[in-house]
Amino acid sequence: MTTTISPETTYNLAFAEDVRKGLTSEPKYLLSRYFYDEIGDQLFQKIMALPEYYPTRCEYQIFQQHGQGLLRKMEGNPFDLVELGAGDGLKTRVLMAQFLAQKAEFAYLPIDISSHVLELLQKSLHEAWPDLSVTPIEGEYFAALQSIGQLSERQKLVLFLGSNLGNMNQEKAVDFLGQLRKKLQPGDYLLVGFDLKKDPEIILAAYNDSQGVTRDFNLNLLRRMNRELGANFDLSAFRHWPSYNPLTGDMKSYLVSEKAQRVKLEALEMEVAFRKWEAIDMELSKKYDRPEIEWLAEVAGFEVEDWFYDEKQYFADVLFRAI
Ligand code: AVJ
Repeated sequence: MTTTISPETTYNLAFAEDVRKGLTSEPKYLLSRYFYDEIGDQLFQKIMALPEYYPTRCEYQIFQQHGQGLLRKMEGNPFDLVELGAGDGLKTRVLMAQFLAQKAEFAYLPIDISSHVLELLQKSLHEAWPDLSVTPIEGEYFAALQSIGQLSERQKLVLFLGSNLGNMNQEKAVDFLGQLRKKLQPGDYLLVGFDLKKDPEIILAAYNDSQGVTRDFNLNLLRRMNRELGANFDLSAFRHWPSYNPLTGDMKSYLVSEKAQRVKLEALEMEVAFRKWEAIDMELSKKYDRPEIEWLAEVAGFEVEDWFYDEKQYFADVLFRAI
């Protein structure tokens, strides 16, 4: 018998190993990057439409109001607009529409690990703007950036939106931005989305919505392990517990085992025991303030060029300039 290791197999192996590591650690944890299977993608779409989940709407507003201000930073030079984790590119369209209206000369290079997402994106962009140059790049961010650097010498504006950086702890965020910086030239720009510290009530509600979609979104990872790893998690025996720490800005989500229970994971040939009220660390969605953002920029080799806010100053897209 032959086994082919396709990217998908590698990914599933990585999933299995990450789950093994997380569920044998003390305290237990799972990685939020695995939230996004097909159902998880749909649930996240639903989250973005929730009345309580403000970040997406804030970023839309920022792009509508400050798209032209951002473009002015490019000083009329032709540039590559690179997006890390493009998804459906809905927000970026708002930006590109304004760039095109100003007759800006740019090419769009969306990077995503999902070839499916990229195909859809390219197709819909081609329908809307047949003359726009779109070069989708499938793969990991840093490998993709490396090849883009070899592709063109043009100035870059790299987008890392939607407070995706919030899923990383400080060490990971510093490492990520530092690695990113190494793929850029002095004078290149990076636009990073940061969710800001604000009324703790508002933050908590965004991760504790009244319709229970965020709860489902967390529980879906248990469902995914049931399906992909032959596990037998009882979803009704785990409670979604979001908690916000206004000091650190850490918005955390946990799943708490409501009883002592054992869970089998056939693919891992493993059984995991949960004590009554034992929690699984599921996600960090960190909220920032200005000094922290300035510090991050500096240690990663950037300077803060400009701040773009929504009307309520809930969210900021911050323009970093590589130095
Ligand atoms: C996609 C990572 C920005 O952390 O706010 C939404 C994911 N989790 N509700 C976030 C999420 C719970 C989201 N990010």
